[in-house]
Amino acid sequence: MNKQVEVLPDISALVDRALDLILAKLSTAIKERGQFTIALAGGSTPKPLYEAIAKQKLPWDKIHVFWGDERYVPPNHPDSNELMARQAWLNGVNIPSSNIHAVPTLDGDPAVSAAKYEQHLRDFFKSSPQGFPSLDVVLLGMGDDAHTASLFPHTPALKVVDRLITVGNKDANPRITFTYPFINAADSVIFLVAGANKIPALAQVFAPVADDFTYPSRLIQPQGELWWLLDSAAGSKLPT
Ligand code: 6PG
Repeated sequence: MNKQVEVLPDISALVDRALDLILAKLSTAIKERGQFTIALAGGSTPKPLYEAIAKQKLPWDKIHVFWGDERYVPPNHPDSNELMARQAWLNGVNIPSSNIHAVPTLDGDPAVSAAKYEQHLRDFFKSSPQGFPSLDVVLLGMGDDAHTASLFPHTPALKVVDRLITVGNKDANPRITFTYPFINAADSVIFLVAGANKIPALAQVFAPVADDFTYPSRLIQPQGELWWLLDSAAGSKLPT
C-alpha cells in the first residue's frame, strides 16, 4: 500500500487536488484499458468535486460510475447519494445512461438489492464468483464516528469479507455498501475529509493502535494507492 496524506488549505483546494488526481488516473486508465471506473462517495463533502468534474471535457462514453454506498431510499429521495451525484454532475454531461451503475434500492429488501448490485458488478467486470475486481478509483468520505461508505462501527457489515456488496446499518436505517475487502481491491482509494469535527476520528484512524471495528476507516488498507485529502480544519491536529 502506498499511503499519501495531504492537508489542503480549504475545501476549494481539496476539491482541486482531488480533481487533479482523478483526471490523471482517468487519463491513464483510458489509455491503458479503454475505460475508467469510479465509485462515488455520498454525504456532503464530495458535492463540489462532482460539480467540478461536470465542467471537464471528458470521453464520457468511456467513464463508468458506481456508488460505494447508498441509502436504502428511492433514487428521487432527498437522502439519495445517486440523486446528489446526478444533480451535481451526471445530469449535466453527455454520459450514456448505461454507464451510470446506480445501486438498486426498490426491491423492498436491502439483502435482495445488495445481491443484485453484487451480480451487476461481477457481470460488468466479468469477475469470478470469488474474485474482487479492482475499480480504478474509489472515493470515500469519513464520518465523525470514523465510518466510511456505510461501514459503521460495530455493525455486521464490518465482518463481511467474502462478498463485494453487503447491507450496512446506520442506526435502524439500512444501507447498501461496498465491503472493505472490495474497497481495498481498488487501484486507488481517495478519502475526502473536511471540517474540525473530523479531528477526533482522524486521530484514532491514524493512531498506531486502535480498534478497527470501533473506527472502521482503519480497515481501508488498499493494495494500491491510498490518498487522504484533508482540509486544514480536519488535518490541523494530525501528527506530522
Ligand atoms: C453517506 C456517505 C458517508 C459519508 C460520510 C461523510 O452515504 O453518507 O457515503 O460515508 O461519506 O458520512 O459525510 P460528509 O462528507 O457529509 O461529512
